[in-house]
Amino acid sequence: MSLLIRGASQLATPLGRSARRHGELGRVAVHTDWVVRCDDGTIAFVGPTAEHDARFPAADLVLDADGGCVIPAFVDPHTHPVWAGSREGEFNRRLRGESYMDIARSGGGINATVRATRAASFEGLLASTLSRLDRFLEHGTTTIEAKSGYGLDLATEIRMLEVIAAANRDHPVDLHPTCLAAHEVPPEHRGDTDGWVDRLVAEIHPNIARRGLAEAVDVFCEQGVFDLDQTRRLLADADSLGWRVHLHADELTPLGGAELAVELGALSADHLMCVTEAGIDALAGSETVAVLLPGTSFFLRTAYAPARRLVDAGCAVALATDCNPGSSPTESMPAILALATLGMGLSVEEALTAATLNAAAAIGRSAEIGSLEVGKRADIAVLAGPSFHHLVYHYGVNPIRHVVKNGRVVVRDRQLVARSR
Ligand code: NIG
Ligand code: FE
Repeated sequence: MSLLIRGASQLATPLGRSARRHGELGRVAVHTDWVVRCDDGTIAFVGPTAEHDARFPAADLVLDADGGCVIPAFVDPHTHPVWAGSREGEFNRRLRGESYMDIARSGGGINATVRATRAASFEGLLASTLSRLDRFLEHGTTTIEAKSGYGLDLATEIRMLEVIAAANRDHPVDLHPTCLAAHEVPPEHRGDTDGWVDRLVAEIHPNIARRGLAEAVDVFCEQGVFDLDQTRRLLADADSLGWRVHLHADELTPLGGAELAVELGALSADHLMCVTEAGIDALAGSETVAVLLPGTSFFLRTAYAPARRLVDAGCAVALATDCNPGSSPTESMPAILALATLGMGLSVEEALTAATLNAAAAIGRSAEIGSLEVGKRADIAVLAGPSFHHLVYHYGVNPIRHVVKNGRVVVRDRQLVARSR
């Protein structure tokens, strides 16, 4: 099956098979009158229209970009997409001045979603997750990292990860599962964080690893949640369980999470709103990707991560939604790009690379996805606007017109046309 995307006024993509840093982050290849050809789910040609037509037979299917801009589909390397209930009541409380942590301490926050998620069935969780995946796809995202973490007991953590596995089988979006059983201290262990850490290490992590339900592990390393020593204990045997490491690091307080992520050889250190200079230096000298989540700062009305300092220091910076019911309830990477540029000071080029190629690196997939290059998977978005600047310029609306996943048109003229694999 071959697909040809033609009629684009512009094609814009970062280039490479690993994360870009420094000036390279902002180096986006931009071409006019270029096409992309996909053969059996893989990009077979990216280049001038005339060269394609001279070298290749007619494609089985042609997608007319109709003057729109063609970009690699987004990769979202940090999401919490499985949950029940909603927490819009916390929105007003925060507007009146309560902090995220105040609300969590008074019975709201993560533990409120844990109560709702524990009470939800597999079928109910799968249905709401699939409808969130529809919105990821409609906004141009074809691959996400997906965390558990609203169960905080073995049975519900397994249920969440089984929902992620089922969604990955059924839905066009690719999901990369992460075990985040160390998201909070559950009510059964209130005041006994060490006892909960013991159970995670002895029982819950090994059980989930044995079932093959996760590729990676994550910990909410934060004052009042898991401190550095507890986080170290939680991640000490990640290798032997076959797991890569992500870390919620320096989100609300400067605890040294970035340094710990580097020490542990983590794939990514995420959030980093409160990262220190030492943390920035450590990240810059490492392969650990700095995943920034400006939606969370926007939604919690807290400071943005120091994106410019991280980029200028040479860190591999990526962007993600953090999609979750408490601190960033959005599936929209274009919204994140708007915040990354207008709020954090990245250029549009830097933001595009951070949301595609570097985001793929943050989940260890930059050799396969994240740019429009021959041999990569054909995961492609077509904007309604004529240049990639329309991603952020035409803000507050969905700028995506068509989406191609594995060489198949899954969103056409803003309509979801394929909801299964
Ligand atoms: O990434 N920081 C911890 N976890 C999420 C929030 C989860 C929630 O509030 O439900 C985050 O911000
Ligand atoms: Fe998160």
